[in-house]
Amino acid sequence: MPYQNVKTNVRDGILVLTIDRPKVLNALNAATVEEIYTVFAAARDDDNLKAVIVTGAGEKAFVAGADIGELATKTAATGKETSERGQFIFSYIERFPKPVIAAINGFALGGGCELALACHIRIASEKAQIGLPEVSLGIIPGYGGTQRMARLLGKGKALELICTGDRIGAAEAERIGLVNKVVSAEQLMTAAEEMARKIMSRGPLAIRAAIEAVMSGSEMPLQEGQFLGATLFGLLCASEDTKEGMRAFLEKRTPNFKGK
Ligand code: COA
Repeated sequence: MPYQNVKTNVRDGILVLTIDRPKVLNALNAATVEEIYTVFAAARDDDNLKAVIVTGAGEKAFVAGADIGELATKTAATGKETSERGQFIFSYIERFPKPVIAAINGFALGGGCELALACHIRIASEKAQIGLPEVSLGIIPGYGGTQRMARLLGKGKALELICTGDRIGAAEAERIGLVNKVVSAEQLMTAAEEMARKIMSRGPLAIRAAIEAVMSGSEMPLQEGQFLGATLFGLLCASEDTKEGMRAFLEKRTPNFKGK
């Protein structure tokens, strides 16, 4: 399908989704957010796609935020609608049943930071600059960033970053746990693909269950989260993949998982 604002490329079962509006540092207008959703919705049912990497076009930016030109026209009603739609789509990414890795190649600000937060794993180039500068514009992060940042970093650090609007560099982002790993700009896509390939070599049903257990479970009280974990564990025990994984271990060979 032809897209106006994103590019897609498939390499060895990995879908690379590139936000592609370099003239505005890949800022997210409504059309781009919808295209991101369309790409993910199609990838969900495509058995040939096993993982997704999200990145930004050009040297400078992952995504420099929501498109401020478009935001400036919002009313109370359309602003709420925009926020709710973005939240829905970013939650769809967060609950995606295949691993989603953000390869943060530069500015990840506002909606760009929120997009990265919705991904399961974040790998940053040394050039990355990350932040939620919305308060400088008189708004707050609208695509779930207040919630996800507080859950990832704790309320104190999240409030510091959200209320100052400060950008932080890659090393600081790694130090506080905002990104998983920092690599050179040249190594970024290789590192993201290596991570995706490693996850893809594991049992796909187990990966799906792990994402669900962590993402849904962390929204529940501990007992309920543990119940979810036990239920998923039990379901996996009945799968062919589990039998294959254990047989392969005992036979000292690489497992051949089928996702069944
Ligand atoms: N929305 C719309 N356009 C944006 C944008 C955004 N979020 N971020 C950057 N752009 C545009 C700029 O207006 C500029 O357009 P122009 O060439 O027509 O003037 C172009 O992208 C390049 O940006 P520029 O500001 O010239 O680059 P820079 O290297 O000097 O600064 C940033 C880079 C990211 C620090 C700066 O662009 C910025 O602060 N952007 C807004 C970040 C933000 O507040 N995001 C949250 C939005 S809710």
